[in-house]
Amino acid sequence: MTKKLIVGNWKMNGGLADNASLLAALLAGLHDSPADVAVCASAPYLAQLQALLRGSALDWGAQDCSAHEAGAYTGEVSAAMLRDFACRYVIVGHSERRQYHGESDDLVAQKAQRALAQGITPIVCVGETLADREAGRTEFVVKRQLSAVIHAVGHCASEIVVAYEPVWAIGTGRTASPEQAQAVHAVLRAQLRAASAHSSRNRILYGGSMNADNAAELLAQPDIDGGLIGGASLKAADFLHITACCPRVAAGI
Ligand code: 13P
Repeated sequence: MTKKLIVGNWKMNGGLADNASLLAALLAGLHDSPADVAVCASAPYLAQLQALLRGSALDWGAQDCSAHEAGAYTGEVSAAMLRDFACRYVIVGHSERRQYHGESDDLVAQKAQRALAQGITPIVCVGETLADREAGRTEFVVKRQLSAVIHAVGHCASEIVVAYEPVWAIGTGRTASPEQAQAVHAVLRAQLRAASAHSSRNRILYGGSMNADNAAELLAQPDIDGGLIGGASLKAADFLHITACCPRVAAGI
């Protein structure tokens, strides 16, 4: 069994004071966590995360990066800049970016490439809308989204983390059932296996209204390797509870 990975996506929330108290509560509660744990904050707070979390049990990352390396792209943040703040992860292709900023599969794939080139693990989000699901297109959509990234990153495919986030489950309180989530994770697992001989390194996270009440059942599914948590990651007790739901994996496995 792979060690689970629990990532908090703070989205556009937080502030210096709130972040400091949330991080202090997380650090106090994270001793000997059975999971790998990280939080992804807005770019202005990455220096704060680096200062407060360096050497701790909590990793950190960003929520997006530019598809460009450097240059005249006002407002963009490059993967190299994220590296300056020692980000371990960067979320790419979140449905809120695809939906509100028109990000295409190809753009997301370029972002994943930029991250990998800087030694940062991209957390590649895929997921279908409610209309896709109702039209029976879930598998087609998530495979298309992941395929763009796999093709772009080539032999680095085993270095990405994938997050399955059904759009209809994000921030709605409507979670995919463990069976629905597992079914899509199995499809993504098969796609990653076909792409790389080292796919055992890939972790596939579930995201979408995961909380302290439903995490244990979701995380018990064989192909769910962790969670990408939005709202519940802003409450220390709930986020810690989710990390504690993860089974402990013996060292060396
Ligand atoms: P919620 O947990 O708030 O539904 O958000 C999920 C998500 O979008 C994480 O990236």
